[in-house]
Amino acid sequence: MELIFLGPPGAGKGTHAQMLCKDAQLAHLAAGDILRKNVKDGTPLGIRAKAVMESGALVSDELVNNMMFDAIRSLNGYKGFILDGYPRTLFQAEALEKFFAAQKKSLTAVINFDASEAVVVDRLSGRRGCPKCGKIYHVTNMPPKKEGVCDVDGETLTIRKDDQPETIRHRLKVYHESTKPLIEFYRKKKLLHDVPADGDASSVQKVLEKLFEKLS
Ligand code: AP5
Repeated sequence: MELIFLGPPGAGKGTHAQMLCKDAQLAHLAAGDILRKNVKDGTPLGIRAKAVMESGALVSDELVNNMMFDAIRSLNGYKGFILDGYPRTLFQAEALEKFFAAQKKSLTAVINFDASEAVVVDRLSGRRGCPKCGKIYHVTNMPPKKEGVCDVDGETLTIRKDDQPETIRHRLKVYHESTKPLIEFYRKKKLLHDVPADGDASSVQKVLEKLFEKLS
């Protein structure tokens, strides 16, 4: 199963991809996570991406396309994958189509996380993450057992640099301008499934699990 998770920042793409991948033997390929790892490791890609990401703008299509194609090519032993936060522009979507055709792969579905602006702003403002294992929390919606500490490995949770109010506003603007047009792009191809994403994590997860059963 090859899936794309589409939706505004803070809609829950990463949270629900983590939950689904655990049981379904799917790889979770999150463009933002891969970029952040490159930034942390100081790779040439990370050095070019750092300031762009901190401002809430998009990293260049060419860099992100090559990064994601490499990530897909290097997968081994999975039943498929979820692309989280990729593609994010029409140019990326068209490049991915060509890549899939060359790899003789086909896209199973695109899941559109349909979340309102007020909800995503609240979620991003309270998001915390584990710098070691990447598990995502929220201070009130999905808190860790011990405040500020990861349940999995005891690391101190951190706040993403791009989760500052001004950067959140800019990321939402970029989403509306560059990524939202992908909804119609994939709807026309009859690949799009809308998932209402304003509800709590367990209700959104139930809808996704039902959809997964239908798609498998
Ligand atoms: P990226 O890391 O992909 O950020 P994003 O798309 O803005 O998405 P987020 O990770 O912020 O949100 P999410 O939907 O995954 O929400 P989450 O599950 O964490 O990208 C970062 C940057 O990298 C970009 O700005 C850009 O610069 C660059 N980049 C990435 N991809 C690129 C591309 N393709 N092209 C160019 N540049 C690219 O949830 C948010 C919070 O809500 C959490 O606290 C969580 O606990 C909580 N929560 C989640 N679901 C629920 C729920 N159902 N109920 C209650 N709380 C919930």
